[in-house]
Amino acid sequence: MQQEEAFLASWLERMTLRQKIGQMTMVERLHVTPADVKENALGALLSGGGSHPGDNSAQAWVEMNDRFWQAAVADEDSLGVPILFGVDAVHGHNNVQGATIFPHNIGLGAADDAQLVADIARATAREILATGLEWNFAPVLAVAENCHWGRTYESFGSDPQRVAKLGRRYVEALQEEGVMGCVKHWVGDGGTKHGMDQGETTLDWRAFETTHVAPYYPALEAGVLTVMVSFNSWNGEKCHGHRFLITELLKERLGFAGIVVSDWDGVKYLDEDYGAAVRKSVNAGLDMFMVPERWREFMDALEGQVRQGRVSVSRIDEAVRRILRTKLRYGLFDSPRPARRAGVGADSFGCQAHGDIARRAVKKSLVLLKNEQSALPLAPHQRILVAGKNAHNLGHQCGGWTLSWQGESGNGSLDGTTIWEGIRALAPRAELSADLSGAEADPKRHDVAVAVIGEKPYAEGLGDIRPGDEVLVETGSRVNGLLNPLEPYAKSLKLAQTHPEDLACIRRIAAKGVPVVALLISGRPLVVDEELEAAAAFVAAWLPGAQGQGVAEALLGKCDFTGRLPLPWPGSGVGAAERASGHEPLFPVGYGLSLAGAKIGSQK
Ligand code: BGC
Ligand code: BGC
Repeated sequence: MQQEEAFLASWLERMTLRQKIGQMTMVERLHVTPADVKENALGALLSGGGSHPGDNSAQAWVEMNDRFWQAAVADEDSLGVPILFGVDAVHGHNNVQGATIFPHNIGLGAADDAQLVADIARATAREILATGLEWNFAPVLAVAENCHWGRTYESFGSDPQRVAKLGRRYVEALQEEGVMGCVKHWVGDGGTKHGMDQGETTLDWRAFETTHVAPYYPALEAGVLTVMVSFNSWNGEKCHGHRFLITELLKERLGFAGIVVSDWDGVKYLDEDYGAAVRKSVNAGLDMFMVPERWREFMDALEGQVRQGRVSVSRIDEAVRRILRTKLRYGLFDSPRPARRAGVGADSFGCQAHGDIARRAVKKSLVLLKNEQSALPLAPHQRILVAGKNAHNLGHQCGGWTLSWQGESGNGSLDGTTIWEGIRALAPRAELSADLSGAEADPKRHDVAVAVIGEKPYAEGLGDIRPGDEVLVETGSRVNGLLNPLEPYAKSLKLAQTHPEDLACIRRIAAKGVPVVALLISGRPLVVDEELEAAAAFVAAWLPGAQGQGVAEALLGKCDFTGRLPLPWPGSGVGAAERASGHEPLFPVGYGLSLAGAKIGSQK
């Protein structure tokens, strides 16, 4: 400890104010060169969703980070403090071509298996190391209380205890494997009014603490090295400027000794005057600033505040001490350059063993909501008609934060197996509907059909749905300040409204007398009363990722359905999705059928 303090003190003595501010600055890779890193002594870099070097191979990532690293430590005149590089590897190392893509957290919440989460975290860590990086902005510890929220799928669910348990195991396994974790978003992101991303969470301290703060305790105890502050407000005050939440609660009361990092430009929303915004957040206790693009402006603003005496040098020193201490404890000062480290996990990147973990996760995450006419399990000899827009679409299976920020559509650049391909491999007489509509359904030719329906990918605020607000969001229009790059889409929790083709597909096939197994791909529960009614069996598959075989194995009875709802499922009285609405949900937390038809799980 004493040695550590002496080490930190000797660094601080050597650093200019400008270099200290540089350590507090995190920049997006597209907006910085190795020369900038050296000249400004930058503390960290990141890749935003979909941002990748060169051909996006593991090797390209190693080479990129190696150049930045050398500029930080080895070049003549460099400060010599090693730099951190962070990514959002939120369901595997999902920005990188060929990485293993795991189910999104909502499915892992349904599986509710801490060992499985640990295996996924380890595999993800090995793939991160294989690309020469060391920091993951995960896990998300949001307690998703309202499925209108576009980030619901990044959450383990609405049960704080489940989030706490799975989050802890993720952190332990990730860090044991050698990658720094970052629990996010501190705090209350899943509790906003109407599930609005970056919105307002209004709760008294007791309720706020039990639901949103408590899930962080085990991860903090387990020694998570970094915490990312949330865009949302708590009782009218933005977290990014919240002295009580950051300094008094997290640092002082809970004893967190690592780095408190901002979210993407999270500071600029604190005040119209940028200098005032920076001052407010630094004085609230933020240590490192994710200022992806306009980082020079940030550095100038913070320097100005210090020179004017509005931010104390001791606050700056406290932040820098935390940054250096975390780098030291993680072992960054002793770490070889990325090009030398990559050997660590090179052959594990996208390997079969990781794919097997992903497939296991897919199987355990599926929740069976209905099974009549013994529609499930399917049998290998059956003539199965496979239909629906999500039957043969890896991008849709994987959801947002996959190769690009908002996710992909189609099978283009993703490696993996679609649900159709998985079924075909196990049931050779299966047939894919030519235009996916199921129009060819014929009881003389088909014993049963599988209709793969549901959402298309989205991320963050673009996935928000405002209750009662069934507007069409046009391409190029703004949602929560974000420009919609997606096709125009309707906002409604009701699937029959946003994707009427899905209900039509089920009804078309069922009307011909072929029983339909509906399989829903979605980042959250949707109002599907009519689809449930029309189908003989119904499976919630969440966003399973690239291992379609996992889904097929479960449908064909190679395992039982053991997933349970990690959050309540609303019925057509949409209000059921709302906290304190008083409506009974259609299915409660813990609901899920097994193949034998028995209900499993506990009712909460
Ligand atoms: C998200 C964070 C993410 C960051 C960097 C933000 O918009 O809220 O979860 O870590 O971007 O991509
Ligand atoms: C980035 C994301 C980030 C978002 C914030 C996007 O351009 O790719 O990583 O979370 O901006 O607005």
